[in-house]
Amino acid sequence: MMTNSNSQETASRTSAQPENAKQPVLRAPNLDDAKAVHALIKASPPLDVNSVYVYLLLAHHFTDTCVVAELNNEIVGFVSAYVPPKSPDVLFVWQVAVAENGRGFGLGKAMLQNILQRPHLSKVRFVETTVGPDNAASRGMFASLARKAGTEIHETALFEGHHFGEQAHEDERLLRIGPFSQK
Ligand SMILES: CC(C)(COP(=O)(O)OP(=O)(O)OC[C@H]1O[C@@H](n2cnc3c(N)ncnc32)[C@H](O)[C@@H]1OP(=O)(O)O)[C@@H](O)C(=O)NCCC(=O)NCCS
Repeated sequence: MMTNSNSQETASRTSAQPENAKQPVLRAPNLDDAKAVHALIKASPPLDVNSVYVYLLLAHHFTDTCVVAELNNEIVGFVSAYVPPKSPDVLFVWQVAVAENGRGFGLGKAMLQNILQRPHLSKVRFVETTVGPDNAASRGMFASLARKAGTEIHETALFEGHHFGEQAHEDERLLRIGPFSQK
């Protein structure tokens, strides 16, 4: 497993994949990844597409809490996350994307676990994220993360449609998962 945020880890094979399937390498993003991450997000509805500049900022300031999955020199997965300034025991997960043909093999969950295992995040006890009401894949992934850690999910209202102004947007409900055990 990962020993620091700059080291690389290969996502583990799942039973759904052939034994000789090449595994993506999981690593912290750098500035050169921002354009490809932007393209991946654009190809991953229902995620909001932010500017390339936002992904540059994430790779620059938040690289220690983000991850990319790289396979054959292509970015096939991405998670953006950060520790909220007033909640040092929380990892807030913003966007998770896996390239369409790589879904269902455990990569989304592996990327989340990759971040949670980083030594500098040893104070993190809870994962928070927001999900739309109908995003079954996202809900399934976070439910699986909670199950695997033997912990619970609490769901409450957070961002409601009207908060997004004129942009038509579904409610984004807060999922709080934890507590995760101490590392
Ligand atoms: C959500 C997403 C990142 C999941 O990635 P993934 O690599 O396919 O997910 P995993 O293979 O790691 O699956 C993890 C768990 O979620 C479950 N899951 C995955 N897709 C699912 C779906 N469509 N419906 C229900 N459950 C699903 C899996 O069964 C698995 O559970 P298990 O560990 O008990 O077997 C991917 O579907 C995606 O990029 N979607 C588009 C963007 C998006 O909606 N992002 C999430 C919002 S931030």
